[in-house]
Amino acid sequence: MGVDEVQRIALYGGNRLRGRVRISGSKNAALAILPAVLLASKKVSLNNVPDITDVRTMLRIIEDLGATIRRRGRNSLDFYPSRLRGYAPPYDLVQKIRASSYLMGSLLARFGRATVPVPGGCDLGPRPIDQHLKGFTALGVDCLIEHGLIKLTADKLSGAHIYFDVVSVGATVNLMLAAAAAEGRTVLENVAKEPEIVDLANFLNAIGAVVKGAGTDVIKIDGVEEFGGAEHTIIPDRIEAGTFMLAAAATGGDLLMGEVIPKHLEAVTAKLREMDVKVEVGPDQIRVFRSGPLAPSDLKTFPYPGFPTDLQPLGMVLLTAAEGTSVVTENVFDGRFRHVDELEKMGARIKVEGRTAVIDGGVPLSGAPVSATDLRAGAALLVAGMIAEGETVLSEAEHIYRGYENIEEKLKSLGAQIRCHRAGRSSGAADDQG
Ligand code: EPZ
Repeated sequence: MGVDEVQRIALYGGNRLRGRVRISGSKNAALAILPAVLLASKKVSLNNVPDITDVRTMLRIIEDLGATIRRRGRNSLDFYPSRLRGYAPPYDLVQKIRASSYLMGSLLARFGRATVPVPGGCDLGPRPIDQHLKGFTALGVDCLIEHGLIKLTADKLSGAHIYFDVVSVGATVNLMLAAAAAEGRTVLENVAKEPEIVDLANFLNAIGAVVKGAGTDVIKIDGVEEFGGAEHTIIPDRIEAGTFMLAAAATGGDLLMGEVIPKHLEAVTAKLREMDVKVEVGPDQIRVFRSGPLAPSDLKTFPYPGFPTDLQPLGMVLLTAAEGTSVVTENVFDGRFRHVDELEKMGARIKVEGRTAVIDGGVPLSGAPVSATDLRAGAALLVAGMIAEGETVLSEAEHIYRGYENIEEKLKSLGAQIRCHRAGRSSGAADDQG
């Protein structure tokens, strides 16, 4: 596929996205469930696994730890994790993805110990793991950080009552994984309620764990000693679906997304309707289209079920196209406005004060050379390039392939004028588009 070779993407504005787009499996559910596979003692089959670079990296880590993986298809994989070699995943791979921090919880559950490099990942400002370590300590784990490694050891994992100071997806995932094998009951409070947490709980229960309350503020886990195997299908990616919803609105197009779980996208649907965008919701599909002007709006991000922080950069691009003043408040991450500098190169008028950005919308964007600073900022700049006048060249485009499967083919099929430059060669739609 060579997706990770893509370095630059050229876009030409003015095309409305139209048609149907198949939404892939959820990156963030897959990245939580893949480490959980290491708990299983029998074969695990996963379906609807997105073929994206972050997942490929996690698969390489799991193989390096000794699990055998057989690919049944592009999105279907069988795992045989009964014989694992060790509890120390390779530094170079762990550094590539933040989700590798979940290996702490799953290796603790499997071996009672883990040695994991301090995780890397998108630069969204400080990304501490204090809540993860607070939870592990409560389960009886000794935590030591030295020479860039997190060294975790536990004679025994014992259930505990843990109240998180901060709602954290990662800490919730990690403690679900470790507590699944702890002796007795663990109660987790002030947890993340994202659909990906529920999907992980469903997978854990399928291999024999006892996890109750996922999706609510309190999760109760009764540890078990042995986990079996299971077959599980990953939920659709709500952030990819939301990305296409916002792209349809921004380009004034008409997109039908499926399969999705509309409930996972209620905050996005509500916001689009507030901006005078039409959204039709079916049992497992969503249609987004727009004919008139966009209304300005205020956008605030919150943990689920609030408006997702991962769609904040895309929401900001949409708001630049709405006549009038809009305000974006980023309540989840400290530093998630790095895309603003890039949008200003395209003529956007945005003023950032701390966690708030004020957008003076209605001024058409103009194409420019810009950089993807992280996965979702990269996606936002793709959409900005589709509505800007002229050519936009997006560098560091490899970020986008971390989280969007087949993004080039999907956008071309919807009418985007996009040309990808891989190392040494380029594939192009511009000529395809005639
Ligand atoms: C997960 O990151 C997602 N990544 C992110 O998606 C997503 O933006 C984020 O959750 C919020 O929804 C994956 O699922 C792989 P957090 P995570 O812990 O777990 C603070 C994408 O583009 N915090 O929920 O790292 C933290 O600083 C990625 O798909 C602590 O203070 O996010 C942040 O301000 C980007 N201490 C807030 O909590 C901790 O120990 C939420 O972070 C942990 C987190």
